[in-house]
Amino acid sequence: MNILRTPADMQQRARELRAAGKRIGFVATMGYLHEGHLSLMRLARKESDVVVVSIFVNPAQFAPNEDLDKYPRDFARDEALCRQAGVDIIFYPEARDMYAPDASVYVAEESLSRVLCGASRPGHFRGVCTVVAKLFNLVLPDVAVFGEKDGQQLRIIERMVRDLNFPVRIVRGPTVREPDGLAMSSRNAYLSRDERKQAGLLKRALDKAALMYSELDMRDTKKIKESIVKVVLHGPDARVDYVEIVDDRTLEPVETIDRRCLIALAVYVGKTRLIDNLVIGGAR
Ligand code: PAF
Repeated sequence: MNILRTPADMQQRARELRAAGKRIGFVATMGYLHEGHLSLMRLARKESDVVVVSIFVNPAQFAPNEDLDKYPRDFARDEALCRQAGVDIIFYPEARDMYAPDASVYVAEESLSRVLCGASRPGHFRGVCTVVAKLFNLVLPDVAVFGEKDGQQLRIIERMVRDLNFPVRIVRGPTVREPDGLAMSSRNAYLSRDERKQAGLLKRALDKAALMYSELDMRDTKKIKESIVKVVLHGPDARVDYVEIVDDRTLEPVETIDRRCLIALAVYVGKTRLIDNLVIGGAR
């Protein structure tokens, strides 16, 4: 396994690999890897000859009041996990090498980014799109795997690839969960033991919503959202940021589940903001 530290080295290696006819599979991460990331790497492996994983805590997607400084980092552990997972290249750049001090060009998706997490975290998806576009230009992947846990991010990246004609195929990786249903996330490390117990309520609330839809034929999104909020607020330290049911393609709110919809929620448990989602209704 090689560790490449500079954008120039990464891009040159990618060009050599492509010239040699190798298919590059890519997983972008911010490190502090867990089983969710490893499952994305396994998917990338199936689709390619060479697997590249980037580890970069991207300052451009954090607002000044957010957790950039305390975001968990452990490169030695990440390196060992990548090695075990059979990753070929880790791209591990420094922020100063990724962004020129006077950088002034960004990639902004202007529709799907306005709602859900984009409404709570203005500028976040501009930071994500910009770094993912840059990473695509450096890693030159044939295939890139992104997790369904970050459902809005995934749809925005798919839109960016379509609208800007990136020659990359995006593969969706299913959410990997802890035994109580909590979606795996590097930020779960912030939870105290008590908060960790309450965090399982997010999935329980989504499961109940799925049951209301399938067993009770409930289609009224207002009632389903009320039920989700009620379950989540069983946690004394839980505070709802948003619970929304939106059209899966446009991310516009829907009143009746009469098509494929995304139930998306963001909940603070203590100071930690957790997100999760579920697709319901309609055909893909
Ligand atoms: O999902 C993430 O970890 C990040 O948003 C990503 C895609 C690596 C971009 O920094």
